[in-house]
Amino acid sequence: MRVLVTGGAGYVGCHAVDALLRAGHEVRVYDNLELGHAGAVPLGLLIEGDLAEGDKLSDVLSEQRIDAVMHFAAYSTVGESVTDPGRYWHNNVLGTLSLLDAMRATNVRSLVFSSTCATYGVPKKSPIAESTPQDPVNPYGMSKLTIERALADYASAYGLGYAALRYFNACGASPHGHLGEAHANESHLIPICLQAALGQSESVTIFGVDYPTRDGTCIRDYIHVDDLADAHLRALERLSPGAGLRLNLGTGRGFSVREVIDACRRVSGREIHVEIGTRRTGDPPELVADPSRAREVLGWTARYSEIDPIVETAWQWHVAHPAGYPDGPGAAFEHS
Ligand code: UFG
Repeated sequence: MRVLVTGGAGYVGCHAVDALLRAGHEVRVYDNLELGHAGAVPLGLLIEGDLAEGDKLSDVLSEQRIDAVMHFAAYSTVGESVTDPGRYWHNNVLGTLSLLDAMRATNVRSLVFSSTCATYGVPKKSPIAESTPQDPVNPYGMSKLTIERALADYASAYGLGYAALRYFNACGASPHGHLGEAHANESHLIPICLQAALGQSESVTIFGVDYPTRDGTCIRDYIHVDDLADAHLRALERLSPGAGLRLNLGTGRGFSVREVIDACRRVSGREIHVEIGTRRTGDPPELVADPSRAREVLGWTARYSEIDPIVETAWQWHVAHPAGYPDGPGAAFEHS
């Protein structure tokens, strides 16, 4: 297939591009490079553009003879979505509607969409199955849920075939060493710990030690980015017109913040200084997936289910790329 990957210069998107190419698909990346890295996209595949440019999207879809779209382009920082929700409603909601309408206009009917466990809000039960009521507690989760609802309507009325994949905590890096996590203003736990291990920061602050969990810190389901990419490929092959798949992507195992910090110490062999802070607004105590439906529907299970091997891939990336991606289009691929 020839697949357009929006946000293919971003963290999860670039790993999906790599997996698509390795599986023999043709790829075009559509990214405005606001948060993505030109260096993370193989040479010749990047088309610079914004989701809001509907006519440009339509031109790309038809001129490049695209068969299917994987849609990663979005803002995804929970805290920022609370302080600046307009960004999330415009980019994540209106931007995606612009993409959906361009797909409709050019008769491209297959879409794999990045959704999130943040659509569940603070669930009453753990692990979380897809039947759990979706009740987001922040604008980020609401923006993704809004699009899930739009996708269902576009499927029944216009014949769209889609998969909404609800990621738990994406993490890790390509074991091939050329792709990894490089956010400006990093807020995610594992890279923050590894930056502290590298001496790039003084310490890690634990956001709350008074949660009703086994050690008082929040529990999350850490899913390796290559496992996410694998699930996207499988979902792409199972799309059917007028129908939707809604699937959780997680390991089914939860690790606490303290357990993740300990894993980062073990893997790096370095001390990581910890400070105890207050709770971060909007953090549910525990988010762990029940991934059994993805196993049944896609034949998918996470290959990385232990935390240490996940952290090892991230550590290799951070050691080799302490300043993130090398500059220049396709730079990550020059020696791979
Ligand atoms: N944490 C700390 N200190 C830090 C950073 C994080 O204690 O410096 C804690 C958080 O409070 C949380 C856990 O580590 O309990 C994981 O935090 P992350 O920021 O790494 O990830 P989140 O669970 O907040 O967010 C991720 C994705 C979101 C998605 C969300 C769903 O980044 O896009 O999962 O809950 F919406």
